[in-house]
Amino acid sequence: MSYAVQTRALRRVFGARGEVVALDSVDLSVRAGEVRGLLGPNGVGKTTLCKIV
Ligand SMILES: Nc1ncnc2c1ncn2[C@@H]1O[C@H](COP(=O)(O)OP(=O)(O)OP(=O)(O)O)[C@@H](O)[C@H]1O
Ligand SMILES: [Mg+2]
Repeated sequence: MSYAVQTRALRRVFGARGEVVALDSVDLSVRAGEVRGLLGPNGVGKTTLCKIV
């Protein structure tokens, strides 16, 4: 199966020593034409994930 967007174990840290873990172990698979929502509390990493994608 091929996907338009796919991440596996995606990790993103901020800070000089990586002290802010914005994303950790994110698995995401989105097929072409599929509409997905991204919900979660403030600061959970939604914007960070969208920017990377
Ligand atoms: N440029 C940056 N430098 C340092 N830390 C950051 C940066 N961008 C995001 N963060 C941190 O990464 C984490 C995830 O932030 P992000 O903005 O992705 O969350 P969010 O789910 O979009 O939040 P919100 O619901 O408030 O929009 C937070 O701890 C945030 O403080
Ligand atoms: Mg946001």
